[in-house]
Amino acid sequence: MPDNLAPRAVPGPDRSARIDAARDRSGCGSRGLAFAVDSAAVLHLVSSTSSEWLDRARSDLDELLLDHAHCEKKAAGAAVKLLFSYPHHRFLQEPLAELAEEELEHFRQVLAHLDSRGIRYETIRPGPYGMALRALVRRDEPERLVDMLLVSALIEARSCERFRLLAEGVGDTELASFYESLLACEARHHRVYVDLASRLIPREALEVRLRELAEREAEIIGLPFDRVRMHAG
Ligand SMILES: [Fe+2]
Ligand SMILES: [Fe+2]
Repeated sequence: MPDNLAPRAVPGPDRSARIDAARDRSGCGSRGLAFAVDSAAVLHLVSSTSSEWLDRARSDLDELLLDHAHCEKKAAGAAVKLLFSYPHHRFLQEPLAELAEEELEHFRQVLAHLDSRGIRYETIRPGPYGMALRALVRRDEPERLVDMLLVSALIEARSCERFRLLAEGVGDTELASFYESLLACEARHHRVYVDLASRLIPREALEVRLRELAEREAEIIGLPFDRVRMHAG
């Protein structure tokens, strides 16, 4: 049976067990509970998400969850793509393989939440964020790889910042706990990408470029979009 004809999942008695099992596999668990996130100092972001975004997110949690699933899958894909593109950079291999595994586990966790809420997993229109950020990547090496790593670092940072907002303000206990469980992982992914980039250029040059990209990210995250997205204004 084609996927889109499959019956919708209905919340059942095993709902919590499936979600808990997915969370336990993630390797992130409740570490997020104690993780203090300072958007500027820890995540290198130069803007904060507005309360209007949280209001929009709360108004369409189904769409937000669906977009979140796609975000996790894309995060895994971006890491795997780097593994294929840069096999000669040995230092990238284990950290990015581990990161991709964790993103795929997050993807499975979001799928469990979608199923438990009877939301069909399907394709949705992406917002402008990812493509606009990727357009900032320079062409020549090693600048190209540096930029790809730093762009991924900023995407992780923005996800982390917004998971914190959602954890505190989503108004749904189960989802709040889920978002809180992801916080530390995404902050760690941010650090992994920044540390990998620091293997390619001096720290001072890296900080200058990271700041430049963060300033552009602050503009891009505000781009309007007609649907709720994890990474749209
Ligand atoms: Fe993730
Ligand atoms: Fe991540």
